[in-house]
Amino acid sequence: MLDALYIHIPFCVRKCNYCDFLSFSSDKDMRKKYVDYLIKEIKLYPKYTYNTVYFGGGTPSLLEYEDIKRILDEINISSDAEVTIEVNPKTVDFDFLKSIREIGINRLSIGIQTFNNNMLKILGRLHDSNEAIKTYKNARNAGFNNISLDLMFSLPNQTLEEVNQDLNQLFSLKPEHFSIYSLIWEEGTPFFKQLEQGILKITDNDLEADMYEHIISKARQHGYEHYEISNFCLPNFEAKHNSKYWENKEYLGIGLGASGYIGNLRYKNQMQFSKYYDNIDNGILPILEKEFLNKKDIEEYSYMLGLRLLKKGIHPGDEYISKCLELEKKGFLEKQDGAFILSKKGIMFANDVLTEFL
Ligand SMILES: C[S@@+](CC[C@H](N)C(=O)[O-])C[C@H]1O[C@@H](n2cnc3c(N)ncnc32)[C@H](O)[C@@H]1O
Ligand code: SF4
Repeated sequence: MLDALYIHIPFCVRKCNYCDFLSFSSDKDMRKKYVDYLIKEIKLYPKYTYNTVYFGGGTPSLLEYEDIKRILDEINISSDAEVTIEVNPKTVDFDFLKSIREIGINRLSIGIQTFNNNMLKILGRLHDSNEAIKTYKNARNAGFNNISLDLMFSLPNQTLEEVNQDLNQLFSLKPEHFSIYSLIWEEGTPFFKQLEQGILKITDNDLEADMYEHIISKARQHGYEHYEISNFCLPNFEAKHNSKYWENKEYLGIGLGASGYIGNLRYKNQMQFSKYYDNIDNGILPILEKEFLNKKDIEEYSYMLGLRLLKKGIHPGDEYISKCLELEKKGFLEKQDGAFILSKKGIMFANDVLTEFL
């Protein structure tokens, strides 16, 4: 049953030095026009009822409160739904947070990245550590009781002690959930250029592994469950929307460059505004790429994604049992309550293990 909706907001004040997500600079009129088209796109689909809605970006918090309301007014949302928006510190104040809480947004994902001011500058972020903490406190005061913080580690020249300092600050805030991603050096970004020029260098593998192990053990000490490779939560605060991705469930994705999964179709929307608008003006879905999955593709996706869920793992069909047993023998998987899950060693080499299923 399709009950998840992802809405992409492709605008940022400025591009961060490491990021290759689809986002552009914009003005108010551009954003209003974009929301008009999002609403038209929603109307091209059947009227589903959503149990999770996720505004991702880009920087969705750049939208006016009225525009967010216009979108929410257009969709059916179940009464117990999780409705998340990604916010950047600096783009939101208390009044905005209070307004969006009142119209049904009940979960925030705040893009912190690090609390280290020098590193924030290197990353090209607009905010400093105090502004990040202030945004978090404003969110609490505005009535949000489900907040996730987004961080990164393995940043240029970052030390284990600096990661530890980020964790100390993170745990002192007690968010219900946090994500922490190891930096990916994306081609085409300023970071990648500086890497090629020898100005920046990739963190040594052993140090990165030490950082990740430290994050996992410290999170446990503070009562967080490590439920997905990069995601941690207090009991019962797993991200419901993102969990649907990992469970290989269907979801509708709308907006520029958004991807979705309906029936046996995985699709990606147009990535240029002109084409996106043009398709919608002509009453056709603004889809750029389609991948129709057969049974084998669906199985591969579900094993690759399912293993990311560290507690649940996977129940492989007959054709994949031998692959799982082989990975178990090598110490990358283990059996738990009839499921195969990543072992401690498997978590450290997760990317390599997951691609074994492709
Ligand atoms: C699409 S961003 C949206 C959040 C919001 N725009 C922000 O940056 O505050 C989602 C998260 O992906 C992570 N991310 C983006 N680029 C990354 C990269 N190159 N390597 C690792 N993580 C990255 C960051 O932690 C970011 O918060
Ligand atoms: S990290 Fe977030 S704020 Fe920075 S450019 Fe990417 S999407 Fe925009």
